[in-house]
Amino acid sequence: MPLAVVLILLVVGSLLFHVLSPWTFTELASNWGMVDVTIDITLVVTGIVFVAVNLFMAFCVIKFRHKKGARANYEPENKKLETWLTVLTAIGVAAMLTPGLFVWAKFVDVPEEAHVVEAVGQQWHWTYRMPGEDGKLGEVDAERISNENPFGMDPDDPNGQDDVLVYNAEIHIPVDRPVKFLLRSKDVLHDFAVAQFRVKMDLVPGMNTFLWLTPTREGRFEILCEELCGVGHHTMRGAVIVDSQEDYDAWLASQSTYSALNSRPPGNAAIGAGQYGVCAACHGQQGEGNVAMNAPKLAGQSAWYLKRQIMNYKNGLRGTHQGDTFGQQMIGMVAALSDEQSVDNVVAHIRTFPDNPPATSIEGDVGAGADEYRVCAYCHGKDGMGVQALNAPRLAGMSDWYLERQLANFRDDVRGSHPQDFYGFQMGLMGQSLFDEQVMKDLVAYINTL
Ligand code: CUA
Repeated sequence: MPLAVVLILLVVGSLLFHVLSPWTFTELASNWGMVDVTIDITLVVTGIVFVAVNLFMAFCVIKFRHKKGARANYEPENKKLETWLTVLTAIGVAAMLTPGLFVWAKFVDVPEEAHVVEAVGQQWHWTYRMPGEDGKLGEVDAERISNENPFGMDPDDPNGQDDVLVYNAEIHIPVDRPVKFLLRSKDVLHDFAVAQFRVKMDLVPGMNTFLWLTPTREGRFEILCEELCGVGHHTMRGAVIVDSQEDYDAWLASQSTYSALNSRPPGNAAIGAGQYGVCAACHGQQGEGNVAMNAPKLAGQSAWYLKRQIMNYKNGLRGTHQGDTFGQQMIGMVAALSDEQSVDNVVAHIRTFPDNPPATSIEGDVGAGADEYRVCAYCHGKDGMGVQALNAPRLAGMSDWYLERQLANFRDDVRGSHPQDFYGFQMGLMGQSLFDEQVMKDLVAYINTL
């Protein structure tokens, strides 16, 4: 009898949970309402079976419970019952599968007018490429992929010259226009998924996959990688921004083509030397850093990272948090660098500085720190010299007090909490286990030995 009660409570509880639960689908933002209908049909079919089977079990438990002297009938075959069960099961399974076939037929039939966006996945971030005015994407080849050519573009392919390259986890698309996402992975399996769009697709190394949709409302929608792709899988986020046509056009106009990126002159260290004057007051004449001024060592840090951080300060992605007292000071300073070219120049100048190891100031348990560092090594490298492809800066031989402070900043969301600072956000997620004061000290003490 208690078992029967449990079964009935299970049924009632499940039904109540389904009706009252606050966890429902996120609001649809694409043309794929059909997917919701398919899921609803599946829920209804499996729900009816679930209720029927469990209530039947409860009924049997009560009706056929042990009674003194009662004996069970032996009935190994019941053709009529078996036929009924087979027919009902077949109808139920068909009802669940058939709508999916209709959805799939539509899913593989991409509207001709769909504009193309290529989303490239790699451990653990997203970049994008769109054809330029010629409407054609240039040839790419995995063998050509390098730090200087992250998309593996063919420099001689005329179709690729006007391709728009988006080195950012955020992509914009216009509302109410079909878009085809071409999907390509550089390393392992990933999966491009936006909950509000309802469609998702795996990225398979060595293969091009795709999905299409028509966004139906404007907004910012998070991309989640939904294929376990390594230690940083949970940090592989991005965003699709659905814009009005006007906003989209403005955004598109601000993006750079492959040929424009290629033809930009490299940073000029001599010009940068003049602009560095304002930095020197805190960071030192040779970028050696000055703890009294809260200015970390710059000498020896990678150019791409220096540039990204300066741009982050310029664009409000860093130094805007109220708790980031020292970051806020940078905002006024970087304003002196008027454009991207002057940032390149000043970075080129910093790269000419001698890379002398700074004085260390943090003490801790180096052995324990080595253990903690293993997770950092996935991105920052075993030697702590940073890995550009993983957006991980150099840690070894840099200011140790600064590393400790930044860890604390990531922990307290003082850094990496801006919605567009995807790499900072990533660090905030990856660093969760490191955010104990002693662990931070041990870790930094270990990095000092690298
Ligand atoms: Cu990429 Cu999970």
